[in-house]
Amino acid sequence: MTGVEAAAETSVPKIEIVGLSRAFGKKGSKEKFYAIQDFNLSIRQGEFVTVVGPSGCGKSTLLDLLVGLSKPDGGSILVDGKAITGPALDRGIVLQGYALFPWRTVRKNIEFGLEIKGVKRGERAELVRHYVKLVELEGFENHYPYELSGGMQQRVAIARALAYDPEVLLMDEPFAAVDAQTRETMQDELLSIWEKTGKTVVFVTHSIEEAVGLADRVAVMSKNPGRVKAVIDVGLPRPRRVSDVRNTIDFNVITSRVWELLQNKEPLPEREIPQTNVEEAIHDDAII
Ligand SMILES: Nc1ncnc2c1ncn2[C@@H]1O[C@H](COP(=O)(O)OP(=O)(O)OP(=O)(O)O)[C@@H](O)[C@H]1O
Ligand SMILES: [Mg+2]
Repeated sequence: MTGVEAAAETSVPKIEIVGLSRAFGKKGSKEKFYAIQDFNLSIRQGEFVTVVGPSGCGKSTLLDLLVGLSKPDGGSILVDGKAITGPALDRGIVLQGYALFPWRTVRKNIEFGLEIKGVKRGERAELVRHYVKLVELEGFENHYPYELSGGMQQRVAIARALAYDPEVLLMDEPFAAVDAQTRETMQDELLSIWEKTGKTVVFVTHSIEEAVGLADRVAVMSKNPGRVKAVIDVGLPRPRRVSDVRNTIDFNVITSRVWELLQNKEPLPEREIPQTNVEEAIHDDAII
Protein backbone atom coordinates (compact mmCIF):
# COMPACT_ATOMS: atom_id res chain seq x y z
CA MET A 1 0.00 0.00 0.00
CA THR A 2 1.36 3.44 -0.92
CA GLY A 3 1.48 6.33 1.55
CA VAL A 4 -1.38 8.07 -0.24
CA GLU A 5 -3.51 4.92 -0.13
CA ALA A 6 -2.75 4.45 3.55
CA ALA A 7 -3.77 8.05 4.28
CA ALA A 8 -6.99 7.53 2.31
CA GLU A 9 -7.72 4.35 4.30
CA THR A 10 -7.48 6.10 7.64
CA SER A 11 -9.10 9.44 6.80
CA VAL A 12 -12.79 10.17 7.38
CA PRO A 13 -15.03 9.22 4.47
CA LYS A 14 -15.73 12.02 2.02
CA ILE A 15 -19.44 11.26 2.30
CA GLU A 16 -20.99 9.28 5.12
CA ILE A 17 -24.67 8.43 5.01
CA VAL A 18 -26.00 6.74 8.14
CA GLY A 19 -29.56 5.57 8.82
CA LEU A 20 -30.91 8.12 6.37
CA SER A 21 -34.65 8.44 5.90
CA ARG A 22 -36.87 10.81 3.97
CA ALA A 23 -40.65 10.72 4.21
CA PHE A 24 -43.38 12.40 2.21
CA GLY A 25 -46.99 12.95 3.24
CA LYS A 26 -49.58 10.75 1.56
CA LYS A 27 -52.34 12.69 -0.22
CA GLY A 28 -55.56 12.84 1.83
CA SER A 29 -54.03 10.99 4.78
CA LYS A 30 -51.93 11.72 7.83
CA GLU A 31 -49.79 8.70 7.09
CA LYS A 32 -46.25 9.12 5.87
CA PHE A 33 -44.61 7.35 3.00
CA TYR A 34 -40.90 6.62 3.34
CA ALA A 35 -39.17 7.15 0.00
CA ILE A 36 -35.86 6.37 1.73
CA GLN A 37 -35.44 4.50 4.99
CA ASP A 38 -32.36 3.30 6.83
CA PHE A 39 -30.08 4.09 3.92
CA ASN A 40 -26.39 3.55 4.69
CA LEU A 41 -23.42 4.24 2.43
CA SER A 42 -19.89 5.42 3.05
CA ILE A 43 -17.96 6.94 0.15
CA ARG A 44 -14.21 7.49 0.16
CA GLN A 45 -12.44 10.62 -1.06
CA GLY A 46 -11.94 10.31 -4.81
CA GLU A 47 -14.25 7.33 -5.20
CA PHE A 48 -16.63 6.91 -8.13
CA VAL A 49 -19.87 5.38 -6.88
CA THR A 50 -22.85 4.68 -9.11
CA VAL A 51 -26.37 4.10 -7.82
CA VAL A 52 -28.88 1.89 -9.63
CA GLY A 53 -32.36 0.82 -8.68
CA PRO A 54 -35.90 0.58 -9.99
CA SER A 55 -37.81 3.71 -10.91
CA GLY A 56 -39.22 5.35 -7.79
CA CYS A 57 -36.78 3.69 -5.36
CA GLY A 58 -35.54 7.06 -4.11
CA LYS A 59 -32.42 7.81 -6.16
CA SER A 60 -33.33 11.42 -6.94
CA THR A 61 -34.58 11.87 -3.38
CA LEU A 62 -31.14 10.74 -2.21
CA LEU A 63 -29.37 13.20 -4.52
CA ASP A 64 -31.63 16.05 -3.39
CA LEU A 65 -30.57 15.29 0.16
CA LEU A 66 -26.90 15.16 -0.85
CA VAL A 67 -27.21 18.50 -2.63
CA GLY A 68 -28.96 19.98 0.39
CA LEU A 69 -32.18 20.82 -1.44
CA SER A 70 -34.15 18.87 1.17
CA LYS A 71 -33.55 17.74 4.72
CA PRO A 72 -33.52 14.20 6.12
CA ASP A 73 -36.35 13.02 8.37
CA GLY A 74 -33.91 10.75 10.14
CA GLY A 75 -30.26 9.76 10.10
CA SER A 76 -27.46 11.91 8.76
CA ILE A 77 -25.32 12.81 5.77
CA LEU A 78 -21.85 14.07 6.49
CA VAL A 79 -19.51 15.57 3.90
CA ASP A 80 -15.95 15.80 5.22
CA GLY A 81 -17.39 14.96 8.63
CA LYS A 82 -19.83 17.90 8.62
CA ALA A 83 -23.60 17.84 8.22
CA ILE A 84 -24.93 19.37 5.00
CA THR A 85 -26.75 22.64 5.61
CA GLY A 86 -27.75 23.48 2.03
CA PRO A 87 -26.44 23.66 -1.54
CA ALA A 88 -22.82 24.83 -1.77
CA LEU A 89 -20.05 25.07 -4.34
CA ASP A 90 -18.16 22.12 -2.86
CA ARG A 91 -20.78 19.94 -4.56
CA GLY A 92 -21.38 20.19 -8.32
CA ILE A 93 -24.79 19.04 -9.43
CA VAL A 94 -26.31 17.69 -12.61
CA LEU A 95 -29.87 16.78 -11.77
CA GLN A 96 -32.71 15.19 -13.73
CA GLY A 97 -34.44 17.79 -15.89
CA TYR A 98 -31.48 20.09 -16.66
CA ALA A 99 -32.43 23.01 -14.36
CA LEU A 100 -30.52 25.59 -16.39
CA PHE A 101 -31.21 29.26 -15.84
CA PRO A 102 -33.54 30.06 -18.76
CA TRP A 103 -32.63 33.76 -18.73
CA ARG A 104 -28.92 33.05 -19.12
CA THR A 105 -27.09 32.06 -22.31
CA VAL A 106 -24.99 28.90 -22.49
CA ARG A 107 -21.91 30.97 -21.66
CA LYS A 108 -23.57 32.69 -18.70
CA ASN A 109 -24.96 29.39 -17.39
CA ILE A 110 -21.48 27.86 -17.43
CA GLU A 111 -20.04 31.00 -15.79
CA PHE A 112 -22.56 30.92 -12.95
CA GLY A 113 -20.49 29.14 -10.28
CA LEU A 114 -17.35 30.97 -11.42
CA GLU A 115 -19.03 34.33 -10.83
CA ILE A 116 -20.04 33.29 -7.32
CA LYS A 117 -16.49 32.13 -6.67
CA GLY A 118 -15.20 35.54 -7.80
CA VAL A 119 -13.16 34.22 -10.74
CA LYS A 120 -11.92 37.14 -12.91
CA ARG A 121 -13.52 37.80 -16.29
CA GLY A 122 -10.52 36.69 -18.40
CA GLU A 123 -10.15 33.41 -16.55
CA ARG A 124 -13.90 32.83 -16.76
CA ALA A 125 -13.79 33.26 -20.53
CA GLU A 126 -10.92 30.77 -20.74
CA LEU A 127 -12.76 28.20 -18.63
CA VAL A 128 -15.96 28.64 -20.63
CA ARG A 129 -13.99 28.01 -23.84
CA HIS A 130 -12.49 24.85 -22.36
CA TYR A 131 -15.77 23.37 -21.10
CA VAL A 132 -17.82 24.38 -24.15
CA LYS A 133 -15.27 22.47 -26.23
CA LEU A 134 -15.40 19.50 -23.87
CA VAL A 135 -19.16 19.12 -24.20
CA GLU A 136 -19.03 19.88 -27.93
CA LEU A 137 -21.15 23.02 -27.89
CA GLU A 138 -18.84 25.39 -29.75
CA GLY A 139 -20.90 27.94 -31.64
CA PHE A 140 -23.77 27.80 -29.14
CA GLU A 141 -22.23 29.99 -26.46
CA ASN A 142 -24.72 32.80 -26.98
CA HIS A 143 -27.82 30.64 -27.31
CA TYR A 144 -30.48 30.44 -24.61
CA PRO A 145 -31.57 27.07 -23.18
CA TYR A 146 -34.90 27.14 -25.06
CA GLU A 147 -32.93 27.20 -28.33
CA LEU A 148 -31.18 23.91 -27.50
CA SER A 149 -32.25 20.26 -27.64
CA GLY A 150 -32.66 18.30 -24.39
CA GLY A 151 -29.29 16.59 -24.85
CA MET A 152 -27.56 19.90 -25.51
CA GLN A 153 -29.13 21.42 -22.40
CA GLN A 154 -27.91 18.46 -20.40
CA ARG A 155 -24.39 19.01 -21.71
CA VAL A 156 -24.54 22.67 -20.60
CA ALA A 157 -25.55 21.46 -17.13
CA ILE A 158 -22.53 19.13 -17.08
CA ALA A 159 -20.18 21.90 -18.24
CA ARG A 160 -21.60 24.22 -15.58
CA ALA A 161 -21.04 21.63 -12.84
CA LEU A 162 -17.47 20.89 -13.95
CA ALA A 163 -16.43 24.50 -14.58
CA TYR A 164 -16.30 25.61 -10.95
CA ASP A 165 -14.27 22.54 -10.03
CA PRO A 166 -16.27 21.14 -7.09
CA GLU A 167 -14.76 18.36 -5.00
CA VAL A 168 -17.90 16.26 -5.23
CA LEU A 169 -19.97 15.68 -8.35
CA LEU A 170 -23.59 14.62 -7.85
CA MET A 171 -25.12 13.42 -11.08
CA ASP A 172 -28.66 12.16 -11.67
CA GLU A 173 -28.88 10.35 -15.02
CA PRO A 174 -26.73 13.03 -16.65
CA PHE A 175 -26.45 11.22 -19.97
CA ALA A 176 -30.00 9.89 -20.25
CA ALA A 177 -31.05 12.46 -22.83
CA VAL A 178 -28.00 12.36 -25.10
CA ASP A 179 -27.56 10.10 -28.12
CA ALA A 180 -25.61 6.84 -27.78
CA GLN A 181 -22.45 8.09 -29.45
CA THR A 182 -22.30 11.33 -27.46
CA ARG A 183 -23.08 9.35 -24.32
CA GLU A 184 -20.05 7.15 -24.84
CA THR A 185 -17.82 10.16 -25.50
CA MET A 186 -19.11 11.89 -22.39
CA GLN A 187 -18.70 8.79 -20.22
CA ASP A 188 -15.07 8.55 -21.28
CA GLU A 189 -14.56 12.30 -20.81
CA LEU A 190 -16.04 12.10 -17.33
CA LEU A 191 -13.72 9.21 -16.47
CA SER A 192 -10.76 11.13 -17.82
CA ILE A 193 -11.68 14.27 -15.81
CA TRP A 194 -12.24 12.13 -12.71
CA GLU A 195 -8.89 10.36 -13.15
CA LYS A 196 -7.11 13.70 -13.47
CA THR A 197 -8.89 15.60 -10.71
CA GLY A 198 -9.66 12.99 -8.06
CA LYS A 199 -13.22 14.23 -7.55
CA THR A 200 -15.65 12.14 -5.56
CA VAL A 201 -18.57 11.17 -7.78
CA VAL A 202 -22.06 9.91 -6.95
CA PHE A 203 -23.73 9.02 -10.24
CA VAL A 204 -27.31 7.77 -10.60
CA THR A 205 -28.19 5.82 -13.73
CA HIS A 206 -30.78 3.42 -15.15
CA SER A 207 -28.18 1.75 -17.30
CA ILE A 208 -26.46 -1.22 -15.66
CA GLU A 209 -23.71 -1.05 -18.29
CA GLU A 210 -23.05 2.58 -17.50
CA ALA A 211 -23.11 1.90 -13.74
CA VAL A 212 -20.53 -0.89 -13.98
CA GLY A 213 -18.46 0.75 -16.73
CA LEU A 214 -17.88 3.93 -14.73
CA ALA A 215 -17.78 2.88 -11.11
CA ASP A 216 -15.42 1.75 -8.41
CA ARG A 217 -18.51 0.48 -6.61
CA VAL A 218 -22.14 0.10 -7.61
CA ALA A 219 -24.78 0.66 -4.91
CA VAL A 220 -27.86 -1.37 -5.82
CA MET A 221 -31.04 0.01 -4.26
CA SER A 222 -34.30 -1.71 -3.39
CA LYS A 223 -37.69 -0.04 -3.47
CA ASN A 224 -40.33 0.54 -0.77
CA PRO A 225 -38.51 1.58 1.19
CA GLY A 226 -35.51 2.80 -0.74
CA ARG A 227 -32.32 1.51 0.78
CA VAL A 228 -29.02 -0.05 -0.23
CA LYS A 229 -29.56 -3.71 -1.03
CA ALA A 230 -25.96 -4.49 -1.95
CA VAL A 231 -22.75 -2.75 -2.88
CA ILE A 232 -20.76 -4.37 -5.66
CA ASP A 233 -17.03 -3.82 -6.03
CA VAL A 234 -16.28 -3.38 -9.70
CA GLY A 235 -12.50 -3.80 -9.66
CA LEU A 236 -12.03 -3.38 -13.42
CA PRO A 237 -8.65 -1.87 -14.30
CA ARG A 238 -7.98 1.89 -14.19
CA PRO A 239 -7.46 4.04 -16.12
CA ARG A 240 -10.54 2.75 -17.86
CA ARG A 241 -12.62 3.56 -20.89
CA VAL A 242 -16.16 2.18 -20.90
CA SER A 243 -15.74 1.25 -24.56
CA ASP A 244 -12.62 -0.81 -23.74
CA VAL A 245 -14.09 -2.86 -20.90
CA ARG A 246 -17.60 -3.38 -22.25
CA ASN A 247 -16.84 -6.64 -24.05
CA THR A 248 -14.70 -8.28 -21.40
CA ILE A 249 -15.81 -11.34 -19.43
CA ASP A 250 -15.22 -9.61 -16.08
CA PHE A 251 -17.48 -6.76 -17.10
CA ASN A 252 -20.24 -9.18 -18.12
CA VAL A 253 -19.96 -11.15 -14.89
CA ILE A 254 -20.28 -7.99 -12.76
CA THR A 255 -23.11 -6.65 -14.89
CA SER A 256 -24.88 -9.98 -14.53
CA ARG A 257 -24.56 -9.80 -10.73
CA VAL A 258 -26.09 -6.33 -10.61
CA TRP A 259 -28.86 -7.52 -12.91
CA GLU A 260 -29.64 -10.51 -10.68
CA LEU A 261 -29.75 -8.31 -7.59
CA LEU A 262 -32.20 -6.02 -9.31
CA GLN A 263 -34.29 -9.03 -10.25
CA ASN A 264 -34.47 -9.92 -6.55
CA LYS A 265 -32.29 -12.96 -7.02
CA GLU A 266 -29.28 -13.73 -4.89
CA PRO A 267 -26.20 -13.37 -7.08
CA LEU A 268 -24.50 -16.62 -8.07
CA PRO A 269 -20.93 -17.15 -6.97
CA GLU A 270 -18.64 -16.03 -9.79
CA ARG A 271 -17.48 -19.47 -10.88
CA GLU A 272 -21.03 -20.78 -11.18
CA ILE A 273 -22.20 -18.21 -13.68
CA PRO A 274 -22.57 -20.17 -16.90
CA GLN A 275 -21.50 -18.21 -19.96
CA THR A 276 -24.88 -18.73 -21.66
CA ASN A 277 -26.69 -17.11 -18.72
CA VAL A 278 -24.40 -14.11 -18.88
CA GLU A 279 -25.15 -13.71 -22.56
CA GLU A 280 -28.88 -14.04 -21.98
CA ALA A 281 -28.91 -11.62 -19.06
CA ILE A 282 -26.93 -8.90 -20.75
CA HIS A 283 -28.25 -7.25 -23.80
CA ASP A 284 -26.68 -4.27 -25.47
CA ASP A 285 -27.54 -1.83 -22.74
CA ALA A 286 -29.67 -3.14 -19.93
CA ILE A 287 -31.87 -0.23 -18.91
CA ILE A 288 -33.90 -0.68 -15.75
N1 LIG B 1 -41.80 15.93 -3.40
C1 LIG B 1 -42.36 14.73 -3.30
N2 LIG B 1 -43.58 14.57 -2.72
C2 LIG B 1 -44.14 13.36 -2.59
N3 LIG B 1 -43.55 12.21 -3.00
C3 LIG B 1 -42.35 12.30 -3.59
C4 LIG B 1 -41.69 13.56 -3.78
N4 LIG B 1 -40.49 13.34 -4.37
C5 LIG B 1 -40.42 12.01 -4.58
N5 LIG B 1 -41.53 11.39 -4.11
C6 LIG B 1 -41.79 9.95 -4.12
O1 LIG B 1 -40.66 9.29 -3.58
C7 LIG B 1 -40.37 8.11 -4.30
C8 LIG B 1 -38.97 8.17 -4.82
O2 LIG B 1 -38.91 9.15 -5.86
P1 LIG B 1 -37.56 9.47 -6.62
O3 LIG B 1 -37.84 10.58 -7.57
O4 LIG B 1 -36.49 9.68 -5.63
O5 LIG B 1 -37.31 8.10 -7.39
P2 LIG B 1 -36.16 7.71 -8.43
O6 LIG B 1 -35.50 6.49 -7.90
O7 LIG B 1 -35.30 8.89 -8.69
O8 LIG B 1 -37.00 7.33 -9.73
P3 LIG B 1 -36.59 7.49 -11.28
O9 LIG B 1 -35.63 6.38 -11.54
O10 LIG B 1 -37.88 7.27 -11.98
O11 LIG B 1 -36.01 8.84 -11.49
C9 LIG B 1 -41.44 7.99 -5.38
O12 LIG B 1 -42.47 7.14 -4.92
C10 LIG B 1 -41.94 9.41 -5.52
O13 LIG B 1 -43.30 9.42 -5.91
MG1 LIG C 1 -34.94 10.04 -10.39
